[in-house]
Amino acid sequence: MKEKSTPITMLTAYDYPSALACSSNSHVDITLVGDSLAQVCLGYKSTTELSLAEMIHHTRAVARGTTHPFLVADMPFGSYQISLEETARNAIRLIQEGHVEALKLEGGSEISDIVRKLAGMGIPVMAHVGLLPQRHVSMSGYKVQGKDVEGAKRIVRDALALEEAGAFSIVLEAIPKELATYVTQRLRIPTIGIGAGPHTDGQVLVWDDVMGTWAGHKAKFVRRFGNIKAERDSAIQSYAEAVKLRTFPDENSESYSIDKAVWDEFM
Ligand code: KIV
Ligand code: NA
Repeated sequence: MKEKSTPITMLTAYDYPSALACSSNSHVDITLVGDSLAQVCLGYKSTTELSLAEMIHHTRAVARGTTHPFLVADMPFGSYQISLEETARNAIRLIQEGHVEALKLEGGSEISDIVRKLAGMGIPVMAHVGLLPQRHVSMSGYKVQGKDVEGAKRIVRDALALEEAGAFSIVLEAIPKELATYVTQRLRIPTIGIGAGPHTDGQVLVWDDVMGTWAGHKAKFVRRFGNIKAERDSAIQSYAEAVKLRTFPDENSESYSIDKAVWDEFM
């Protein structure tokens, strides 16, 4: 797809229905069980709170709803830091128990040994550079990366090192569009951008941002393609009102009745 300049579409999914929805559209190429699962589905403050067990629980559901898109999951924080051996064991769990096909890991050249290890085991690894949400504390928040010369150089060095280590693709998160374009040209593997401008090989967004399931803070790079929140809130309002007014359920069209003879005998 990179060679043919066909944009790659990636969308997150966290459960069976969102996975089915990704699979029902032939233009979604990759379904990602992102660790954004932590915030958007489980109510955690940060992705660092998500456990491997929680991730596996959700990837199993997503896998049951996934047909065509390539299925990738984030390795949660803590599941690939301790040792190569433990990383390999956790990666195998995500594949055997979680039924995903590929894994995504956040980090630069400092994780190239880990990427090399997993790629060497035959696991497709998606790298992730730029803004790294799992490191939001040490990075002093969720900020655009690579805006100074040193930072920009480091991102290029990291991307090249990760490609060299065997990553099949790389997410570029929240970096200037010029830098993302340059990295995309320098790499043989496809780049998937989020907040990285229009010239990456593909784009990824979080399910809830695409659907507009909530109306809170919207990052600059997010476009809400739907307005599910308005639709959902009005459905809840109508349902609750109908119950209070006793207009739901309808006496006839929405209720069952018993045969009169049977009822007479019963009474
Ligand atoms: O967790 C996530 O949803 C992600 C994508 C936004 C790239 O990592
Ligand atoms: Na993520």
